[in-house]
Amino acid sequence: MANQTAASLPAALGLDNADPALLDAVTGGLARVEDLLLTVAHSDVDFVNQAAMHLVKAGGKRFRPLFTLLSAQFAGGNTDAVITAATAVEMVHLATLYHDDVMDEATMRRGEVSVNARWDNTIAILTGDFLFAHASRLVADLGSDAARIIAETMGELVTGQMRETIGPRDGEDPVRHYLSVIGQKTGSLIATAGRYGGMFSGAGPEQVRALHRYGEIIGTAFQISDDVIDIASPATESGKTQGTDLREGVRTLPMLYALAEDGPESGRLRQLLSGPITDDAAVDEALALLRRSGGLTSAAQTLADYAARAHAELDMLPPCPARDALELLSRYVIARTR
Ligand code: IPE
Ligand code: IPE
Ligand code: MG
Ligand code: MG
Repeated sequence: MANQTAASLPAALGLDNADPALLDAVTGGLARVEDLLLTVAHSDVDFVNQAAMHLVKAGGKRFRPLFTLLSAQFAGGNTDAVITAATAVEMVHLATLYHDDVMDEATMRRGEVSVNARWDNTIAILTGDFLFAHASRLVADLGSDAARIIAETMGELVTGQMRETIGPRDGEDPVRHYLSVIGQKTGSLIATAGRYGGMFSGAGPEQVRALHRYGEIIGTAFQISDDVIDIASPATESGKTQGTDLREGVRTLPMLYALAEDGPESGRLRQLLSGPITDDAAVDEALALLRRSGGLTSAAQTLADYAARAHAELDMLPPCPARDALELLSRYVIARTR
């Protein structure tokens, strides 16, 4: 995963058939984002630098900065502010990954050993804080509106993480709870990525709003596909340990759908999913039951619904290569396996 280049990123996100001039602009923008990431996340304290660079250099899909850059192509393209905004969004995302791996006791991230596993939880939490701090510093250069937006986004994101940890209230519909939680924890930052792309390229307010809403929809879908991947894709593909959600006792959409089915297998699944699973054999059993259930197919249907909603949002934007590319991006989000 680590030996990706800016040029290989758009194709990995389903954009290989996008307009060549648009692809050139996005690739050029991503290369600038990479440079800025390395500078901004740098520390003169050798150990801090090592911990901060660990995940920056491990790669990742760079989905959020790519989306900011694509969103900027409706108007003025890769302005300096767009590059800064795209970098800041990726840094906030990175910071949440450091913290999320502590919460999930994850040992693998971006195909590498996670920071909490390589060092410990304290180092991972503090490095996440370090990245949050420098993301905020970067956003300060974009003005007070941008600073307010990212602060609100971070507040929403952690609220989503907290609500996921607590689970639905008594009587609350678990699917509704799940969809609202993932809109907060994942949709919010991806929405801001699109909003920033529009704002800092000089797009009009209607277009900025459409990009924001489109981002929220595909961001929510992005998390559903992540939750499908946790069940359906091996670590060699996802770069993360399969079944982490099961080990943590997080009930994701495919699980909720499978649990709602009748029959002896869903009875056994209910037993297995009554809390966090610590035993490897039980994780394997639950994964096998989930793959045989209708849960993954039902989740795919929900993803298709989100794709249709994303499509409707794109109708608010003028037809152009950037809009076509956003259409390709939403297709990638629903079909991805890594
Ligand atoms: C992982 O995000 C966390 C989620 C919100 C699903 P990504 O799947 O974008 O992770 P990287 O950046 O490619 O590693
Ligand atoms: C975490 O969701 C999303 C955020 C970091 C906000 P997950 O726990 O599913 O993410 P992964 O699978 O570890 O990347
Ligand atoms: Mg996690
Ligand atoms: Mg996950």
